[in-house]
Amino acid sequence: MASENILEVSGVVKRFGRVTAVREVSLELPRHGSLGIVGESGSGKTTLANMIIGRLRPSSGTITVLGRDRSAPARSAAERRRRAREVQMVFQDPYSSLDPRYTAEQVIAEVLGIHRAELDRSARRDRVIELCDLVGLDTRQRTSRPGALSGGQMQRIAIARALAANPEVVILDEAVAALDVSIQAQILNLLTDIRVEFGTTFILISHDLAVVRHLTEDVVVMQSGQVIERGRTAEVLRDPQHPYTRQLRDSVPRPGWVPTHRADIPEPTSSIQVM
Ligand SMILES: Nc1ncnc2c1ncn2[C@@H]1O[C@H](COP(=O)(O)OP(=O)(O)OP(=O)(O)O)[C@@H](O)[C@H]1O
Ligand SMILES: [Mg+2]
Repeated sequence: MASENILEVSGVVKRFGRVTAVREVSLELPRHGSLGIVGESGSGKTTLANMIIGRLRPSSGTITVLGRDRSAPARSAAERRRRAREVQMVFQDPYSSLDPRYTAEQVIAEVLGIHRAELDRSARRDRVIELCDLVGLDTRQRTSRPGALSGGQMQRIAIARALAANPEVVILDEAVAALDVSIQAQILNLLTDIRVEFGTTFILISHDLAVVRHLTEDVVVMQSGQVIERGRTAEVLRDPQHPYTRQLRDSVPRPGWVPTHRADIPEPTSSIQVM
């Protein structure tokens, strides 16, 4: 009987030489769940995500997706492909995550060719259009190369590419941090729609508690590679137990807060540089 958690991370440690980036992290995520991972720069968030997608191997501990252990290397190309399909990641920086030679349509068609091999040419073509429509890329944008697109448009391509595989879990690592505030809001609304419509399970890594509050039901707070607080997002934000979480919360706007100075906040990272 498969477990009802889509993802289980248990006692995971990652060491890079003398640096321990992730220390004994455990977490689980139910199907259709949404988990925020917050924490200061260098706290191990991306390292944890990279272990979940299988780009990095844990030094110890286990990671299972749909009850299948992925802490050990994949034993076949098919297994590798399945793992890649199950968990997709949208990276912080769309400029480096998209190949400048390919248009959105080409990028998405390629993913469909790998992960949705059952689609014939015309079904693939239809799906490319559907995905572009879903993320709001117009005809020009979907046939342009990344160099001719804005950061927000590129991030839409990255999201469409991630969804093209029909993943069980999508990890967004600071996927809106580099974008300006109005584009952030558009992308966040898009993600909310996708979550509601497809029941996709999300992990959202962000420095920004406002973003996490908007999009996640559960949250873990990381500091120095450890989870120092966890719970329902609304509760953790209402009544944080750990002093670090309190600091984080007090440095971001709350409901009822009037956004007069939002544009003056220089960088998402700066508001929580508390150490
Ligand atoms: N490949 C690597 N080799 C050595 N050290 C690494 C490597 N990758 C990450 N680290 C270290 O591990 C720690 C955690 O890094 P990580 O990128 O996971 O942090 P983060 O929480 O994602 O930070 P940010 O919010 O700035 O993206 C840092 O001290 C970092 O320098
Ligand atoms: Mg990171």
